[in-house]
Amino acid sequence: MSPKKHIEIPHCPWQPTEKQQQFVDNDALEVFFGGAAGGGKSVALLMAALQHVKQPGYAALIIRKDFPRLALPGGLIPRSHEWLAEEAKWNQARRQWTFPTAGDQPATLTFGYLARPLDKFRYASSEFQYIAFDELTDFTEDDYLFLFSRLRRSTRLDVPLRMRSASNPGGPGHAWVKERFIGGEPSNWDEPTQQFEKHGRIYIPSRIADNLHLNEEEYRQTLLHLPAVERERLMNGDWSVQEQGLFRADSLRYYVEQPRSDEQPGQMELLDPKNRILATIPEGSCYRFVTIDPAGTSAERTREARGAARSWTVMQVWDQPQRELSRFLILRHQVRKQLGFDQLCDLILELHREWEPERIWIEGEKLGWAAYDTLRFKVSIDCVPTTVADKSTRSGPLQLKLGKGEVFLPKYETTWRPGFEAELLAWTGNNREVADQIDAAAYAAIVVRERSGGVIRVM
Ligand SMILES: Nc1ncnc2c1ncn2[C@@H]1O[C@H](COP(=O)(O)OP(=O)(O)OP(=O)(O)O)[C@@H](O)[C@H]1O
Ligand SMILES: [Mg+2]
Repeated sequence: MSPKKHIEIPHCPWQPTEKQQQFVDNDALEVFFGGAAGGGKSVALLMAALQHVKQPGYAALIIRKDFPRLALPGGLIPRSHEWLAEEAKWNQARRQWTFPTAGDQPATLTFGYLARPLDKFRYASSEFQYIAFDELTDFTEDDYLFLFSRLRRSTRLDVPLRMRSASNPGGPGHAWVKERFIGGEPSNWDEPTQQFEKHGRIYIPSRIADNLHLNEEEYRQTLLHLPAVERERLMNGDWSVQEQGLFRADSLRYYVEQPRSDEQPGQMELLDPKNRILATIPEGSCYRFVTIDPAGTSAERTREARGAARSWTVMQVWDQPQRELSRFLILRHQVRKQLGFDQLCDLILELHREWEPERIWIEGEKLGWAAYDTLRFKVSIDCVPTTVADKSTRSGPLQLKLGKGEVFLPKYETTWRPGFEAELLAWTGNNREVADQIDAAAYAAIVVRERSGGVIRVM
């Protein structure tokens, strides 16, 4: 492949990141730069706007939902002043830069907003060759399509027509933006800067790691404390996380651990959705059990051989409170690892020493039976029957429990909990999706259901 010639960006004092350059270089009609917060998307819209400002008559428009967001410190208007104060002329009333050109007409870059549905008609008589929406999910598709109709060029002007947009996932327009751009075919397999195409529209995914100018670690730490759906969208640019998926974010519950002190034994405070204490559970008063979904069932191995992602062994430690609170399930700990059989057995023993569960439940498939045979004289272990092969049916009791707000996760845990939530919230119930953490949790819901209704059938 011949090396691509990068497009120069007039008046831009910054060196574009690799992704920004990819975005700027693309001259397809419609390109969307979407994904994680801080990937350099907004800046890329400004860079691309400047591309043709040497062309007489070129007109560019950058749009946000409301004016303050353009004008705030760090917004695109102040940024444009840093870049352009010496290069172009600013008209405050029109919020417009005018660039001198070699021809008879100047070029312009205008900043606009569409706070209300009628605002769009202010642009009805204008024409632009570049229109960029920042935070596209703040808009309706109607606004977007209306402005699309303002994308025009007189025959004398030698510039491409470009509709550009950038956005994090989430926001009122999440669904239409996802439908319009996400889920297309990869259009350049062989390049590290992968992009996707759907009906001719290009989607360039943005990641935090793309922007070397951010302190990524610090930024990730800040995002870890956001609610689950928002966090996955902002941190990982995940468009699949759904507010209305099989598992809903608003039904997740949390608890806070109060460690043991001289005055009191350790305890867990279960919180309601408003963070009020719903119940206080003394440490050691629960039925504690472990559920295990071992990697490497025969079906998984077949899928791996066909190139699917390798599966993981998941072990979860659960506490079920006593009596009237026994409908609650508290997830205390999770281990997720890729393990061989011997390591699996070692880890079960280690977890058993550390957490002292009353019983360990392992998936009743080949590997589970083998672990059961090896360990049954050392620890209290049984197999969970997996007569129902279909994952979403098997997770029925878990869906019910989660839906009723009866499953509690540790509020301040940031090593395994975010990954567990991400899997829950992205899951649509499709058998092909990775769902090993969901499987282990589904077993926990089966265990407590059967416990309250009698004994679990032991294989
Ligand atoms: N090419 C660059 N050179 C130097 N700094 C950059 C560059 N691109 C981005 N930055 C810095 O990174 C910050 C984040 O960029 P930007 O605001 O474009 O990200 P974003 O993806 O739009 O983020 P958000 O999702 O929060 O809107 C900018 O404020 C700027 O300081
Ligand atoms: Mg931005």
